[in-house]
Formats: sequence, C-alpha cells, structure tokens
Amino acid sequence: MNILIINGPNLNLLGKREPSIYGSQTFEDYFEELSQNYKSLNLSYYQSNHEGDILDKIHSVGFDIDGIVLNAGAFTHTSLAIADAISAVQTHVVEVHISNVFKREAVRHHSFISPVCLGSISGFGLDSYRLAIEAIIKSNK
Ligand code: DQA
Repeated sequence: MNILIINGPNLNLLGKREPSIYGSQTFEDYFEELSQNYKSLNLSYYQSNHEGDILDKIHSVGFDIDGIVLNAGAFTHTSLAIADAISAVQTHVVEVHISNVFKREAVRHHSFISPVCLGSISGFGLDSYRLAIEAIIKSNK
C-alpha cells in the first residue's frame, strides 16, 4: 500500500517551531520511526511551503496511490484551491493536525478541507499522523 504524507507551510520547522505546541521532535526523525513501524507499507513524505507545489503534488499522486495524510498547516484555514484539489483526485485524503486546533484561536476552527476529506484528526501530537495511516489502511480494506 502506497501512502504519502504531505506537510504544508512551516512544518519543515518541526522540532524548532513553538515546541510547547508542536513538540521537540523533527519530522524527519518521526518519519523514520513511522517507516520502521510500518515496514509493509510504502510510506513517503513531502513538504512544501508553497500552495501551488502542494496542489501539484496532490494532482500527481492522487490518481495512483492508496491515500494521502495531509497536514496543510495554515493553508487548512485559507485554501479553497487545496480543497478543490482533494475533491478532484480519487485517493482518500485524511486531514491531520498536530495541535488541537479547536482549543486554539477561532481562526483555526474553520477548515476548508475537512468537508472533502475522509476524516480529520487533530490534537494527538505527531501521533495524529499514525492515526491517519491507520484510518487509510482500514478504508482500503
Ligand atoms: C497545524 C495547525 C494549523 O492551525 C497551523 O497553522 C499549523 C499547524 C497543526 O498541525 O497543528 O501550521 O496544522
């Protein structure tokens, strides 16, 4: 099973960025752990700070792979274009947030992408990504 994790803007700074909210582990470290724990999956990882690059990536894999785990970062709250890209492709997309966005500022409570995703997982730290992978595995059974 092929699953791609896409991280959006500022998530390249995990480990250094506001550790009280996002923790102190880098995503590269966490991804290594995940890959070890899911050796039977073909897991891959892509990060971009640019909305258009995220659209291009969703388009290029979205008709072929078994699922996308998407943390769109702040684009979650602004991007109709990413929502449209998710609607356009065939694969299941699970929305992920490290922090519990509903405990935070009101501007983070609205997501353009929730209505077009298989589901949303928010607030479990980096473990949110593992939970999303589990959801994709079950949805492909
Ligand atoms: C985030 C939450 C967003 O509101 C924020 O803009 C991020 C990270 C999270 O993973 O908790 O960049 O998606």
